[in-house]
Parts: sequence; C-alpha cells; structure tokens
Amino acid sequence: MTTELVVKATSLVKRFEGKEVIKDCNMNVRKGTIYGFLGANGSGKTTVFKMLLGLLIPSAGEIEILGNRSSENRDKILKSIGSIIETPVFYEHLSAKENLELHLSYMGVVNPYIENTLELVGLNDTENLPVSKFSLGMRQRLGIARAIIHNPKLLILDEPINGLDPLGIREMRELFLHLVKNRNMTIVISSHILSEIEHIADNIGVIVNGRIVEEVSLSSIKDQFPEGLEDFFFNIMSGNGGKVNA
Ligand SMILES: Nc1ncnc2c1ncn2[C@@H]1O[C@H](COP(=O)(O)OP(=O)(O)OP(=O)(O)O)[C@@H](O)[C@H]1O
Ligand SMILES: [Mg+2]
Repeated sequence: MTTELVVKATSLVKRFEGKEVIKDCNMNVRKGTIYGFLGANGSGKTTVFKMLLGLLIPSAGEIEILGNRSSENRDKILKSIGSIIETPVFYEHLSAKENLELHLSYMGVVNPYIENTLELVGLNDTENLPVSKFSLGMRQRLGIARAIIHNPKLLILDEPINGLDPLGIREMRELFLHLVKNRNMTIVISSHILSEIEHIADNIGVIVNGRIVEEVSLSSIKDQFPEGLEDFFFNIMSGNGGKVNA
C-alpha cells in the first residue's frame, strides 16, 4: 500500500434495502494527520465510519486500514482503532475506571495507566461514582478515554465534542492535538462545529448525499476561502461545488 495512508477507502458503496446511501466514496487519510469529515445531517458520515470499523459491511468497494484489507483482517484492525460512534454506551452501574478495565480485558490489552488516561480526559476525580450519575459531558469524556485506552493507531471520532462545555471543547481539542503529536495517532473526526474542525484539522473531507465531493487540505481551503471553513462548506452546500485546488 501507499505506506503513509492509514485509511484508504476506494469506491465504497452502501445500500440499505436497495437504497444507495453511500455512493462511490473514496477516502484517504494520511498518517499523523487529523481528517475533518463534514456533511449535513443524514449525508452518510456515521455510515462511512461504521464501515471503516467493520460494524457495517460495504455493499461494494474496498477499505484498507493501516495497509490491511478490512474484509480479511477484522480483528487486527479493530485492535488498532479507537472510536466513538454516536452516543457511547457504558455499564451504568460501574465507575469510569471499571468501565475502562472491562474494555481493556475485552480488547485483550494490558494498560496499567488507566488513572493517567482518566486524568488526560479530566475524569480523575470521579472515583467510585457510577456512570449512571455522570453528566452528558462526563460521558463524552469517558467515551474518549475508552477510545484511546488501548493505544490505538487510528481514532475515529463521530461528533466527540457533543455535550461538552466551552472549556471541555478546548480541553478535547488540546488532547486530540497531543495524541497526534505525542502518541503517534491519526484521527478522523466528524463534527457540525466547523470552528472546532478548523482549529485542529489538516485535511477536510466533505460528504454530500452519500458522495465525498471534496478531499482537500485545510491550508488550501484557507487560501481560497480567506473567511475560513464555514464559507467553504456553505459554498459546497449551496451547490457551487466549491472546488479547491489541493
Ligand atoms: N441501518 C439503516 N437502515 C436504513 N437506512 C439507514 C441506516 N443507517 C443509516 N441510514 C440512512 O443513511 C443515511 C445516512 O445516515 P448517517 O447516519 O450515516 O448520516 P450522518 O451523516 O451521520 O448524519 P448526522 O449528521 O445526522 O449524524 C440516512 O439517510 C439514514 O437514514
Ligand atoms: Mg452521524
């Protein structure tokens, strides 16, 4: 494979009951980068993520994660990915730490640094509090902790900052940048908060009605849309195409 691609999806198609929801999608995510995946409600972001994770089987097309074809290496790939997809589900009667311990044993991974990870996401003072008593933002933080606790190479984050307060959003932004810089992770992140994506992404993919219509660096977007990502995005959404020379 092209060695530096962590995600390479080619001609992906997904049909539900005959209806084509994902249409001929190509996605390329380079190692050590943050890829912001943008699209309106219902455009297909979560469906693409689920296919990358092997939770949904593509109707056609090919996915390679870290050089491994997903159709052949599901278990190996799952171990190398951490994810938050939609609303994370936890064992409600257990604490944050116990939830992470269970996840690690399920993944077959040993990580003695659970406390450090809880600290990294700002949950170090929850002690024995059961998750049922967590606020929305605390759940989101635990979701991120669970996504990173087994030291994955690729993080797939589907709207991970939903429910976080402004300070939490900033903390997560710093955490994501830290993970890429110091823990050699690659991140694919979707969010409707364009300003947040603009803060952290290296590259942007835009999906419209199940088709990835743009894949381009943030810097070239900024060259051509000096007002920033929002202008670029609305330009595409309004049907102008918004083509940027990569
Ligand atoms: N299991 C399913 N069966 C049938 N249709 C589905 C299924 N899952 C998703 N869809 C359809 O696929 C399309 C894309 O949905 P998806 O959840 O991927 O969008 P999204 O971009 O993640 O949206 P949002 O921003 O609201 O999270 C929608 O039209 C949705 O109704
Ligand atoms: Mg979604």
